[in-house]
Amino acid sequence: MLYVRVIYLTSPTTTINKRTTRLMMNSVYYSYPTTTATRSFRTSSSPPAAQQQQQQQQQQQQRRRQQLHKQSFSILTKSINTRLMIGRRRTSDCKNDSLSTIMTEATQNNNNIDGNARTKKTIMVTTPIYYVNDKPHIGHVYTSTVADIYARYKRLQNDDVFFLTGTDEHGLKVEQSAEKRKITPKALADENSAIFRDVMKENDISFDDFIRTTDERHTKQVQSFVEKLLKTGDVYLGKFEGWYDEGQEEYYTETKAKENNYESPISGKPMVRMEEENYYFKLSKYQDKVKQLLETNDSFLTPKERKNELLQRVNDGLNDVPISRTNFTWGIPMPGDEKHVIYVWIDALMNYITAIGMAEENNEKQKYWPASVHVMAKEISWFHAVIWPAVLMALDLPIPSRVHAHGFWIREGRKMSKSLGNFVDLTVLNKFSNHYGMDGFRYYLATEGPIGAQDANFASSRVQEVYGTDLVNTFGNSTSRTTAMCEKYFDGFIPEKSNDATKMFKGYNWKSICKEEAANAIRAYENLELNKATQAAMRIITKVDLFITETEPFRMAKDPNERENLGCVLYQCLEALRIAACILEPVLPNKVKEMHESLPLYKSETQPLTERVVWGGLQPGMKISKLALFPRVDELNENGENKETETAAAAEIIANKKSTEKKTKTKVEKVYSPETQALIDVQGQLIRSMKESGRTNEDLEVAEAVKKLKELKASSSD
Ligand code: MSP
Repeated sequence: MLYVRVIYLTSPTTTINKRTTRLMMNSVYYSYPTTTATRSFRTSSSPPAAQQQQQQQQQQQQRRRQQLHKQSFSILTKSINTRLMIGRRRTSDCKNDSLSTIMTEATQNNNNIDGNARTKKTIMVTTPIYYVNDKPHIGHVYTSTVADIYARYKRLQNDDVFFLTGTDEHGLKVEQSAEKRKITPKALADENSAIFRDVMKENDISFDDFIRTTDERHTKQVQSFVEKLLKTGDVYLGKFEGWYDEGQEEYYTETKAKENNYESPISGKPMVRMEEENYYFKLSKYQDKVKQLLETNDSFLTPKERKNELLQRVNDGLNDVPISRTNFTWGIPMPGDEKHVIYVWIDALMNYITAIGMAEENNEKQKYWPASVHVMAKEISWFHAVIWPAVLMALDLPIPSRVHAHGFWIREGRKMSKSLGNFVDLTVLNKFSNHYGMDGFRYYLATEGPIGAQDANFASSRVQEVYGTDLVNTFGNSTSRTTAMCEKYFDGFIPEKSNDATKMFKGYNWKSICKEEAANAIRAYENLELNKATQAAMRIITKVDLFITETEPFRMAKDPNERENLGCVLYQCLEALRIAACILEPVLPNKVKEMHESLPLYKSETQPLTERVVWGGLQPGMKISKLALFPRVDELNENGENKETETAAAAEIIANKKSTEKKTKTKVEKVYSPETQALIDVQGQLIRSMKESGRTNEDLEVAEAVKKLKELKASSSD
C-alpha cells in the first residue's frame, strides 16, 4: 500500500501574515492509500474532459514508474551480490516478512518505486546552537552524537531528513570576551564558530546545515518574526524589575530567586536586582495552553521525568519575559527601536525556524517544520518546552513534535564546570577517539551516556570495558570467527542451499530471534533509547556465539556427511550477524560500512532499514572475506593518556627519585669532624634563611655562602 504525505507550503510573503501562518498551521500530514484517495478525490470533483486528461497523466505516470523500475532493476543486477539479494527480496516476499506494527509503520513511507522526495516522511532533528564563548567539550559532542544517531537512523529508514546544528553568537559575554582580546565580536564569533563546525565534522556529525545567529538569513528573519509579534501585541514595551543572573543573562521571579538564595543556580554568583525598560513577550497569555501541552501530550517532553519540574514552574505562574536588552549592543537590533537588541534566547530559539526559511518566500525547506525532535540537555528544557512553544503559538506556527532533554555528563560525581576545570575537553576527547576509533568512542557515548533522566559519570575504565566487552570480544570476535570459518571451509562463498529455512539446530529459530530483536531496536531508536537499540543487536551477537559453541561447526567440518549442515549453521551465523550490523549502523557508521565491503549487508544504499533487517538477505554464492573489525587496545587514564606509558613514566620518576635519595644518603652518611660538621650546619642554616627571605642562588651573598659550604665539605674529605 502506498502512502502520500500532503504538505501545504506557505504562500509567498516576506513577513509572516495571517493567511500564511494559518496555512503553516495546516502542515499536518495525512496518510492515504494512494490509489483510493486520489481516485475518489478526482472522480468526485473533475469534469469529464479533465478526467480524461488526468487518466492519461495517470497512465503516463504508471509507464514512467514501470520504466524506472526496469532501469533500477537493470542497474542493480550489475552486481552479483546485489542481484542475488534482489532474487530473494521481491516485494511479495517482503510483505510476508514484514516485522511488526512499528516496523510496518516505519516502512510505509518507503515503498514508493520512484523514491519521490514529496512522498517521503520529512524529519527535522536539531541540536542546541552552541555558545561561541565556550570551548567545545564532551557535552556538545554528546548531544550532537545523539542527534546524529537519530538522524542516521531516520535516513536509513529512507525518510527525508534535515539535521540542523550551529552556533549562538550574540550577547554580552561574547562582547566582553572580544573586548578583552581587542578584537570585534564578529571576529571572535567567526573564529569559535569555525572551531565548533570543525569539531562536529571531525566527530562524524552528519549535519545538513550549520546555522550561525550572525548569518544574514537568520538576523533578517528574526526581525520579521519579532515585527509580527509587535503587530499582534504579543510583544510590547514595558518596565521590569527583577533578579538577574548575569552569567546566564536570565531573569528570575522573586519566588525562584529566593529558592536559589538569590544566587545563580549555574555559576553560584549572586543575582543582581535590575530595573529595565524592555520589550516583553506575553508569556502569561500562553500559560493555559503550555500547561495543557505539557499535561496532555506525553510524547512532547522526554524523558518523562522532566515534565513535573516544568509543570510545577508553569503552575507557579508565567510572567511575561523581557526579550530585549539595552546593556550591550552585540545582537540583532529591535525592529523600529535600535537602542534595544533582541535578547539572546529569543534570537537563539528562532534558529530552528530561520534555518528552514519560515519567514522567507518559497523556501522549500519549510516542509521540514514542525521539527521532529530538538535534542539538548536538561538545563535548557525550560526555554525549549515552555518559552519556545509559547512563541510558536504566538507566531501561529506548529510546535515541535518532541523536546528531548537528556542528563549531564559528570566527572567523579561532580558537575563539569569551568570553575572546577574538570571538563572532558577536546584534547582529551580526541585522545579517546583516536585510541578507540571514532566508532568505538561513539559506541561508548551512545551506550553509557546520560540519554535519560539520570546523569552519567565519564570514566576511562568504562570506556575500556564497554569497548572490550561489546566491540572486541562480542561483535568483533564473532564476525572474525564466522567469516574465518566461511573462508576456511567454503573458500569464502556462502554455501549452496545453506539458506534452507526448514533447517533448525539446537532449537535456535533465527528468523524469529532476529525479527524480535530488530523490532526492539527500531522501537528503541524511535524512542531515542540508544542503549536499548545497541543491546538488541548485542543479544543477537551473543546468541551467535552460544550457537557456535553448541553446534560446534569445527567438529562438523571434520565429517563429510555434515557438510550441508555445516553450511546451514554458518549461514545462520552470518545472516544473524548481518542483521545485527544493520541495526548498529547509526551508532557505528564507519565500521558497518567497512563490514559491508567484506560481507554484503544490504542490497542498495536506499534499501530501508526495516527491509535490511528481514531474514534472508544473504544468498548462496555470495563472496565474503574475513573480517577484523576492532583491534584490542590498552586502557587510557582519565586524561586520555596511555596507561602503560604513564606507568613507565611513573616507574622512571620513582627510579630517579630513589637513585637521588641514595646519592644524598651517601653524602649524609659521610662523617665529618665535629668542628667541621658544626660549621657546615651553621653555613647551611645561613643559606636556608637567606633563601626563605627571598634571595636566590644568583644573589652574591647566597653564592658566597654556598661556596664557603662547598669548601668546608671539601677540606674535610681531604
Ligand atoms: N546557546 C544555548 C542554546 C541555545 S539553543 C536555542 C546553550 N549553549 S551551550 O553551548 O551552553 O550548550 C548547551 C548544551 O550543550 C546542553 O543543552 C547540552 O546539549 C550540551 N551540554 C553542555 N554540557 C553538558 C554536559 N555536561 N553533559 C551533557 N551535555 C551538556 O545553552
